[in-house]
Amino acid sequence: MPLPEETRRIAPGPKQPLAVGIDPDTLECFSALRQQYGNVVNLTTSNGRKACFINDATDVRKLLVKQHANYKKGPGFERVKMLLGNGLIVSDGTTWRRSRRMIQPAFSRQNLHRLIEIMTSCAEKTSARWEAAAEAGETIDVTQDMSEFSLELILRCIFGVDYERSIVVGDQNPFEFLSKESARDLRVVMQVRDTRELILRIIRERQERGDDDAFDFLSMYLAARDKDGVRFTDKELLDELITLIVAGYETSAGTLNWAWFLLATHPEVEQTLLDEAKSCLGNTSEMDQQSIADMIYAQQVLEETLRLYPPVWLFTRRASVDDSLVNYDMAEGTDIYLSPYVLHRSEEYWANPDQFNPERFSPETGTYKKGERPYFPFSLGPRRCLGEYFSFLEMKVHLGLLIQRFHMTLASDAEPALDLGINLRTSESVILRPERRI
Ligand code: HEM
Repeated sequence: MPLPEETRRIAPGPKQPLAVGIDPDTLECFSALRQQYGNVVNLTTSNGRKACFINDATDVRKLLVKQHANYKKGPGFERVKMLLGNGLIVSDGTTWRRSRRMIQPAFSRQNLHRLIEIMTSCAEKTSARWEAAAEAGETIDVTQDMSEFSLELILRCIFGVDYERSIVVGDQNPFEFLSKESARDLRVVMQVRDTRELILRIIRERQERGDDDAFDFLSMYLAARDKDGVRFTDKELLDELITLIVAGYETSAGTLNWAWFLLATHPEVEQTLLDEAKSCLGNTSEMDQQSIADMIYAQQVLEETLRLYPPVWLFTRRASVDDSLVNYDMAEGTDIYLSPYVLHRSEEYWANPDQFNPERFSPETGTYKKGERPYFPFSLGPRRCLGEYFSFLEMKVHLGLLIQRFHMTLASDAEPALDLGINLRTSESVILRPERRI
């Protein structure tokens, strides 16, 4: 029911309009607003929109979990839509619900465990490259290597045998621009559009061949049916596949990039991770779901990396009806800004928030129990990331294998600066010096 204007509980905030976007100035602005006004800040944007920055852990949970149906995706998603079409990340309402139900089964743990072999072989490829660099006494560009690793991995998991048959022909990978270009501008939008034709051709060839025994995301998406037995149209399928490529590679690549930087600067964490990898994995060819699940410390390292450097550092919603959170009301049409980056570094919730300390996530001694953490790198609730488990598998396979073979040191002392675009990246490449362990 709409709330009368005069009884609406409105959060404090500045009177003058503010320019907000998904950019570095906005991070500075929101951090300052939080200091001045508290965890919920009401504001008007320079283009005249009512907006609210919410940094209260209970409100964030309420909004994303219990009351998620009162919100749709907010500002900034028009830009993402140009890139991804109307795939899962962007769609709302019944379109989103239908697609999510059709796609969700592809992400069952049982299915994802069948992809561990691909993950291991991609990590082996990185290992071979680092081996050559170590032998030659050269440095490596970890940022670039993590992009290439994650991109190849997601493409192989989606396209299976067609990765080598139709995508990487000779040395040419038509998706390479994604790992080489950090901008997500119009040029990239056009390049993504060009790849749709290629994907459609692969789909047609698949359908003609009738590869019934293929096991990859493409085969699962092709077989998906809604409750009336209807499949995805070509356009829907293309939007969902492009979404999967972009969502599935950039976030994991960014996390691994920061993880290697943090490991190179925290030798005690590196040592504990190494000890665990040796005891859980031993021989890498035996890497399986159990040994990966046993790597509890690796999970903590990654969770702590995602606390400090959440790739999706800022995201938005728009209230589709009047809604009430704990202490304040949100009028219909209000743009909501949520920042895992700001909340994860809030002293109110985390002791020494800027310190890298994987012990915080220890199942025995950690500060918070799972499910109660003021922590949402993958969002929360029904729209929580579909690839969370996949990304931990991929990142644990990668770290487990490579930490046993290489000790890394920083090639320069400079701490990488933040590049705050749609994803949080390092503004320059992280350059490390690999040293073979044995
Ligand atoms: C470290 C890795 C990752 C992080 C931090 C991450 C983060 C997120 C976040 C925050 C959202 C929600 C955005 C919003 O609601 O506005 C999201 C959604 C999504 N992610 Fe991820 N993601 C990661 C990896 C992946 C991977 C590997 C895949 C696929 C293989 C994936 C697929 C998706 C999809 C399909 C959605 C849309 C879900 C929906 O709305 O139903 N993500 N992710």
